Amino acid sequence: MRITVVGLGYVGSVASAAFSSLGHDVVGVDISYATVEAFRDGVLPIYEPGLNEVITESMQNGNLRFSQIENMDDSLGEIVVIATGTPTLSNGVSDLSQIKQSVAWSMELMPDEGIVLMKSTVPPGTGRMIKKELLQDTTLRYVANPEFLREGKAVHDWFHPERIVIGGQSDAISLVKSLYRGIDAPFVETDITSAEMIKYASNAFLATKISYINEIASLCDKIAADIDDVAAGIGLDSRIGSSFLNAGVGFGGSCLPKDLKAFRRFAEDNDQAAEIMSAVTLVNDRQRLLPYKFLVSTFGSISGLRVAVLGLAFKPDTDDIRDAPSIDLIRALLGDGALVNAYDPRALKNSRDILREGVRFQESLSDCFHDVQAILIMTEWPEIVDYDWKWIADQASSGCVLFDGRNALNPDDMISYGFKYKGVGRGVLSMDDSERNNYLT
Ligand code: UGA
Repeated sequence: MRITVVGLGYVGSVASAAFSSLGHDVVGVDISYATVEAFRDGVLPIYEPGLNEVITESMQNGNLRFSQIENMDDSLGEIVVIATGTPTLSNGVSDLSQIKQSVAWSMELMPDEGIVLMKSTVPPGTGRMIKKELLQDTTLRYVANPEFLREGKAVHDWFHPERIVIGGQSDAISLVKSLYRGIDAPFVETDITSAEMIKYASNAFLATKISYINEIASLCDKIAADIDDVAAGIGLDSRIGSSFLNAGVGFGGSCLPKDLKAFRRFAEDNDQAAEIMSAVTLVNDRQRLLPYKFLVSTFGSISGLRVAVLGLAFKPDTDDIRDAPSIDLIRALLGDGALVNAYDPRALKNSRDILREGVRFQESLSDCFHDVQAILIMTEWPEIVDYDWKWIADQASSGCVLFDGRNALNPDDMISYGFKYKGVGRGVLSMDDSERNNYLT
């Protein structure tokens, strides 16, 4: 099948690569000349494990090419996949201008009865609106086919999805199902608005699980219970499940925070207070500043405090720092005059672009620790977790505070190296022997 993918961000680039590797004839287009050139040259503008390999193979097989939008004057494929951005405005409204522009542009060049396939995340009701406002006088069909790709694992998730959701009319659904031939997953066939709702409700539920476990972790901290054991005990109930129960400094990224905000606004626009979602956001905003609050409570003033922040990306295996907890944290530290060393294996460039002043970005992890008084882990990159922490303790100032914002290290080891260790909800594990005895006796 001939497919045109509009928008070469995280979703569009993976969709282009994956559909072409399934044997379809794909053109990936973008408005940006620089982006298109980067894909053609094999120097991807994003870091996504495995993506480069799939793209290279498909280009070599002749199944995939890239083009700038304005150079596409021949007819587009019978399927046009829309994967342009839907940023959330400050009032929570989703900005659908890129989506509408992409649909309008596609309409001019698509063959009759072609399918507009929406991959971008759009608020429920958007498909209906596009059909009414843009597609009404055409023979084009519209299908909602949301993605459930995790950054850092997007290529794997594409080829091994837990479900493929397709919303639309039955003839269009059948055609879209055939695009995924070769992939083993259950299909959820539904109407357009329900498909859109599945996407938002899924992300909101994942965010809810994280804030829920973080709230329980705060209680564990109060009474010296251990969140790791509590989460394991909860998660063994198959009705609950064990994933997304890792307590820490909260969720970030371009999806969960943005979609939650847009979903809240969507609910309010439909005369429904989004109480759960508001609480989820409140807890998450609080979590990302836990390390800052811990330093203030430990040191009083943190002006001049020498701090190493490890991990800037919103999670491992990505260079993405959009809405990353590390950014809010660093801004708070700098605001109080702390001296910040920062390191990330992949996200240094992106971080430099937005945190211009005040941070000393280190090219190597080993350069972060000389005489630091506090170390804050914000992303559980294996390079950071598996480092020689005894060596780090020797470089750092004696009695250095170690805030493990992802509960990734072994507290007993860290305490034995001389750190003043603090995790999130790790109760007695975070305490030194004398404090521990107070609780255990
Ligand atoms: C999320 C969803 O997981 C995908 O299914 C969805 O397709 C995607 O958004 C999207 O809408 O496009 P992603 O943003 O890549 O994917 O990241 P996640 O793996 O969901 O992690 C989000 C955040 O939650 C990260 O900051 C992570 O550190 C945090 N997290 C995750 C926790 O704090 N605790 C956990 O137990 C799990």
